[in-house]
Parts: sequence; structure tokens; C-alpha cells
Amino acid sequence: MGSVESRLEDLRRQLNEYSYRYHVLDEPIVPDAEYDRLYQELVELERKHPDLIIPADSPTQRVGEQPLSEFAEVRHEVPMLSLDNAFSDEDMIAFDKRVRDRLDVAEIHYAAEVKLDGLAISLLYEQGKLVRAATRGDGATGEDVTVNIRTIKSIPLALRPSAFPTRLEARGEVFMTRAGFEELNNRQREQEEKLFANPRNAAAGSLRQLDPRITAARPLQFLAHGIGIVGGGELPSSHFEILQSLKTWGLPVSAETERVAGIDACIGFYRKISETRARLPYEIDGVVFKVDDLAQQAALGFVSRAPRWAVACKFPPEEAVTKVLGIEVQVGRTGALTPVARLEPVRVGGVTVTNATLHNMDEVERKDVRVGDTVVVRRAGDVIPEVARVLLESRPQETHRFSMPDNCPVCGSPAERIEGEAVVRCTGGLHCRAQSIQSIIHFASRRAMDIEGLGDKLVEQLFDTGLLRNVSDLYKLEREKVAALDRMGEKSSENLLRAISASKYAQLNRFLYALGIREVGETTASNLARHFTLDALRSATEEELCEIKDVGPVVAGNIARFFQDEQNTSVIDALLGAGIVWENTQEEQTADLQGKTFVITGTLAALSRNETKDRLISRGAKVSGSVSGKTDYLVAGENPGSKLDKANSLGVQILDEAELMEMLKKP
Ligand code: IVH
Repeated sequence: MGSVESRLEDLRRQLNEYSYRYHVLDEPIVPDAEYDRLYQELVELERKHPDLIIPADSPTQRVGEQPLSEFAEVRHEVPMLSLDNAFSDEDMIAFDKRVRDRLDVAEIHYAAEVKLDGLAISLLYEQGKLVRAATRGDGATGEDVTVNIRTIKSIPLALRPSAFPTRLEARGEVFMTRAGFEELNNRQREQEEKLFANPRNAAAGSLRQLDPRITAARPLQFLAHGIGIVGGGELPSSHFEILQSLKTWGLPVSAETERVAGIDACIGFYRKISETRARLPYEIDGVVFKVDDLAQQAALGFVSRAPRWAVACKFPPEEAVTKVLGIEVQVGRTGALTPVARLEPVRVGGVTVTNATLHNMDEVERKDVRVGDTVVVRRAGDVIPEVARVLLESRPQETHRFSMPDNCPVCGSPAERIEGEAVVRCTGGLHCRAQSIQSIIHFASRRAMDIEGLGDKLVEQLFDTGLLRNVSDLYKLEREKVAALDRMGEKSSENLLRAISASKYAQLNRFLYALGIREVGETTASNLARHFTLDALRSATEEELCEIKDVGPVVAGNIARFFQDEQNTSVIDALLGAGIVWENTQEEQTADLQGKTFVITGTLAALSRNETKDRLISRGAKVSGSVSGKTDYLVAGENPGSKLDKANSLGVQILDEAELMEMLKKP
């Protein structure tokens, strides 16, 4: 082999390896720039030696040049089936019972998977090369979308060298991540092109392009969830192991998949995924359980177009259609005015929703939501419900564009929009009832001063009766006066005053967070508390503040201005005068975990999640919600779930509870 040929082969092999590490193992081993550099080298070499291009599987040969005139038909040798649905625990239990009765066994092992909201695709590999890709169509006949599928970088053009069957049909889902979808729609908007309604439609529209160059520019992804044709080779005897094999052969599979025993574990998986659903990078509409043992699958067989061995357990839809009855403006703790749509009550994401946030003026202008409109409301996980889009075809005549008021709807102070910011703010500060009340509610909240029993309604009452004007008044409240309020009595008033009194023994980081300085969240408050005493912080310059981790000029400006404000100064003095104290922690606390990122999963016996988080943050660590290449440690409690698998596959150091405690014990 000539030296050019061997360099070409090296480049292809290396690029395919990097791509596999990135797309399938989710553990990139080189920076993107290094991939791009080698890719460019390959493009150059191939340009000089076009005769040496390997069309089948060179990474440069993903995008064909010529648009198709139509998609050819493909008959599926093995039909592509659909799934029966379950909508409740009872449905799932009934499914499991049917399976057990038919097989006459006591307990079934299932492969538990997420149900991706995308398009089913079949990928045929012959001698390890991708020769044909087809849509599901009606299950018997689909469309040949090979040229488009070749543009999806996470789909290997050739399987990794290993003992795969000579004919192998991998099946799975093509979809778009939420981030990819947002990015695509932003691009569409800039180019004044049609917007896609959701990631699924965007994926479908992208795959149905006759010009593969358009598909190539769309952020499509693929995850395999099964097989069709298998010829000339052996496969493992369980579905779960087949997925593992697909992965070793270079096909991406979902990291959420688990093998579970019995229906209770299935229901547990369903619950767990419903909770984590909103945090997944892609949309799912349920989970799928498949009898894991292939011999059992064969014994169960099919009814009409669905297998008896699998079931799709659907989640309540995250979107619903309803009417906008009005648009109100709410005032938050920092004075931010938030437009909120009052809605005709509608069930979405499993709860009844009566209002939805419109976020800010940019969003309102972009979505152009009007009173009287019919809208799609979204509620994903525990996220605040929002208006996703307006159904313009249902807009009545005589509607008006919504505009933000010039004055705060609560205190009447002028509202201002700072150049370059999306937020309009009330300029009333603590003269504004809404801002005052919200700042007191924040001060008392659990992660701040943690004053139990001081609910939102009670704060409003205390404020409106004049007993409470700012947070320092909390420590002057008199028992009889509180007891005389609506829905209060001797006992509850005594409990409240006791809780207020207990909050005097504070921690500086929580106290700083409780003050509600704009853009100072818990982590920044902890960083500040580690480096400054309160006195030092009150007189710190912006330059000094900028030396603190995660504090840039904007936040430094917010902090400095906060402590210069006379009203704030007098409230802080009054709080200190009321006897709020904390131990000085600057010298003792070590920041030995500075720069380390932790992820916590599963249940810990001794500490709650929040306590663990607090302890880690106080030592300088960052606590993140998901495992990635940047994670240093995974703290794994009981029933850790898929984060543990991911951490293992990324080589992240795992700590059990005892090891964590040992780490936290060190001075
Ligand atoms: S298995 C015989 N597994 O759901 C089993 N399907 O309602 C056939 N889907 O057409 C499909 N995630 O497009 C399977 N983990 C998953 C899936 C999944 C999404 C889609 C697939 C299929 C439809 C059936």
C-alpha cells in the first residue's frame, strides 16, 4: 500500500473511532477542533486522489450531491410492528399478568426502555456496510431514505470490526434533541422560513427532504431499540444483550435502558423516568417494556400488528390546547414584570393548569399571544406551565397585541427596560408592595433563613396590616398581634415566633442568599461567605468581588450597589441588631473540593440530597444534575439508576455513602 493510501486509511479509522467515542459512548476523547483538523486533512487528500475515495464509508462521503426525484419503496422482509399502549398502573399490571399466564411463569424479566418521540427507521447492514435505510411506512412497506440517513453522524456507515451477522437490520428511532430543535427553529426564524411545531415534526420534515444536503444541515440523531433481519451470525439470547451488541458494533443505544425483574420494578422504572423526563435532552412520550428472553418472546408471538411481548406505557401528554382568557402582569422579588396568561382550565402533564407564564417581552413579541387566542400550553415535569405557541388559524377577529404597561401594576412606579435586557422592571424597589412581599417570602424560604410556618398568604397579611414592612420587622413581631390575624391563633402565633427566633442562628451563606441580591444564588452566596466576613463584603470593591469564583463584573456591580443602598444598609443593621449571628467560617472552611464537580444519585441514608449538596458546595464543589465528561465524582446511594451506568462508562470515580462521609469529614 502506498503511503497516501495508508494515511487515508489511518485518517478514516481515526475519525470513525472518534465519532464512535463521541456519539455512541458519549465520551469524546479529542476536542472538536482535532476532529475537524483530521477531517480537513482527509478532505484535502481525497481531493488530490479522488480515485482513492471509498464512497461506502469514508466520513467525507455522508452527503450525496444530487437531490432525488422521489423516494423508492422498500418492502420490509420482517414487518415493522407497532406497540400496544398502557395508560395506567392497572394496564401495566394486566399486561404482565397476560404474559405470565401465557408462559406459565411467576416472574418475567423485562428490558425497560424510554419511548422516544421520533420516527421508526430500519438500517440494513450487509457485510458490515450500511446498504439501505427505510422508514416504517405502514409497517409492510416504507420509503428508501438511505441518502438522508447517511448524513446522520451518529449512524455508522460501517459497523466496527467484530463478529456481527453478515446481514443485520438494526431498528431504532430518528429524532431531534430539544436543543437541536430550538436551534433549528431559530435558524428558520432568521431566514423567515416556516417554524416546526415540535421536535418530532422537525425530525420527520428533515428526513423527508429529497435533497440530502438539506437533511445534512438538520440536527438529527439516532438511537437503536431493536433488530429485524438477522442472517449469517449468532445473536445473544436476550433483548438487553442484543442492545449491548449493537452498541459494540457502533450503533448508539439509549443510556436509560435497564433490565428489571417483575411488574413492580417496571412501575418503579416508569415513575423514575416520569420524574427525569424533563431533564432528558430529547422528548419521550412513555416507556416501553419488552420481555427480555427471546425464547419467551417467540413463545408469546403477535396479535395483529403488535407483539404480545411488549407494551408502551404512555405518559400524560405535556401539551394541551386551551383559550387565553386574559393577560396579567406579575411583579417579582427583583421587580421583574412577568406577563402571565390566564387560561380556561385544562389538564396537561397530569395536572389542571389555569395560568401559564409568557416569560418576558421578547417572548411575548415572538409568540404574539393575545387575549382570545387558542394556544398550545406545555407543562414539562415540574417546570412552570408556558404558552408554547398560538394557533393562528383559530384567532378571532378584533384582537390586540399585548404591550407591557409603562407603570408597575402594583405600585404605579415607572417600569423600565434596560437596553439589551429582555426584562421590564418596576423601579419602585422596596416601596413596591409586590417586591417587598416577594423579598420577605424569599428571605424566609427553606433554602434561605428557613422560617417554618411563614407562608405567602401570611406574609401578605402581615404586610397589609403594617406589622411587617421589611425583613428586619420579622424579629420585632409581637405574639398577641400575630395571634389576632385571620386564621391565626395563640398556638400558631407562638410556633411562628419560635421559628423566627430560631432563624437568628444562621449561616453567613444562607443569610447572603436570603438578602436576595440580584443574581446571587446559593452557589455564589457560598463562595462569597467563604471569602468574606459580612463587614468585609459590605465594603468590598467591584475588583475584589470579581476575584471570587463565578462572579463577573455584572454580579460584582449588583453586589456592590446592593450594599451601598441606604435602605438595604439600614435593614441589614436592623437584622444584626435583632441578634442574627453566625459562626465566622472564612478561616476554618477549606475549599479542598474547589473546581470538582459532583453528581448525586440514589438515596443516601444519613443525609438528604439538599444537605449533601450544601456540604459539598460549602467545600467549594459544584453539584450538577447530570453525568458528563466533566463530572469528577458520582455519589451513588441506594437504587442509583442509569447515572451510575453512565458514570461507569465514562470512567467517573464512584463514591458510596461511606466514602463520601469520609471525604466530608476531612477538615
Ligand atoms: S419497539 C415490536 N422500542 O414506537 C416493537 N419502539 O408504537 C416495535 N418507539 O414504531 C417497536 N421508542 O417508532 C420500540 N424503545 C422503543 C421505542 C419504540 C419509540 C416507537 C417506534 C414504534 C412505535 C410503536
